[in-house]
Amino acid sequence: MLLKKLGVLSALACLFLAAPAFANKPIVIKFSHVVAENTPKGQMANKFKALVEERLAGKVEVKVYPSSQLFGDKKVLQAMLLGDVQMAAPSLSKFKKYTKTLQLFDLPFLFKDMAAVDRFQQSASGQELLNSLSSKGLIGLGYLHNGMKQISASKILKVPADAHGLKFRIMSSDVLAAQFQAVGAAPLKKPFSEVFTLLQTKAIDGQENTWSNIYSKKFFEVQPYITESDHGVLDYMVVTSKQFWMSLPEDIRTVVKTSLDEAIALGNKVANEKAVSDKQKIVDSGRSEVITLTDAERTQWVEAMKPVWKQFEDQIGKELIDAAYNSNK
Ligand code: LMR
Repeated sequence: MLLKKLGVLSALACLFLAAPAFANKPIVIKFSHVVAENTPKGQMANKFKALVEERLAGKVEVKVYPSSQLFGDKKVLQAMLLGDVQMAAPSLSKFKKYTKTLQLFDLPFLFKDMAAVDRFQQSASGQELLNSLSSKGLIGLGYLHNGMKQISASKILKVPADAHGLKFRIMSSDVLAAQFQAVGAAPLKKPFSEVFTLLQTKAIDGQENTWSNIYSKKFFEVQPYITESDHGVLDYMVVTSKQFWMSLPEDIRTVVKTSLDEAIALGNKVANEKAVSDKQKIVDSGRSEVITLTDAERTQWVEAMKPVWKQFEDQIGKELIDAAYNSNK
């Protein structure tokens, strides 16, 4: 009897000792992404970690996993819904399974520059799109820029006919597939983590990406030509799961969101700078020649690719396309 009582007492003592440790355990936010740390998204994620851990010391811990170390973009949203990761910022081209409207951002030659992209994202229609994943249990917390896309290839691309028959890696987007089909090329949906090897082994002939991604992942070392096409945008949506977001105590959620907004502002600044400096580093390297297009050549690309808009009008919505297009003015 006495032994039994002692047993109960020691179990209670263990619980008592363990309880404060449990109560003080910080909330962990795993932030998974696929790019290098030295990119707009990499810098944004690291800044977010620094701000949150400074302002919520001991309460929230942010673990950043760059370069597809934890999840590639194909798995990350599923993992988020299962609670295995709490934040990510996939490119807007990678949400097709969850919503069709974000395909908007992939329409070729829709935005003339990043200022137009930004104007649209901050407009009422753009902000509304942050809720487009809501029925799937995901929340868009904000947009983050990377930049305008360029096309790298194993040969000089000046007019659409030059791309005929070539294989291009694309992100998992049907719009991007249609865009390359429109110029007689063969698109291949492949994860970002495989692009360098595919180019190096010549399994593919080219790919489209921003100056920052082409530089930081060394694609310019295995692609002799980059056509400065500025034909599309590569931007991100920072997302979390509704379940996780609503589980945060309100005061903590507010600080996390403010920190994220500030980190995004930094990421956008880095994006602007890198669009210029990473391009220059590529030019200076002499490894890849940057091909500039004349107005007449560019017009040929626009004319070849623009019919893609019509193909996806029903899925995206004409009103939304018009609203985005009007941000160019
Ligand atoms: C890509 O797959 O090319 C990009 O989405 C990578 C990224 O996240 O910038």
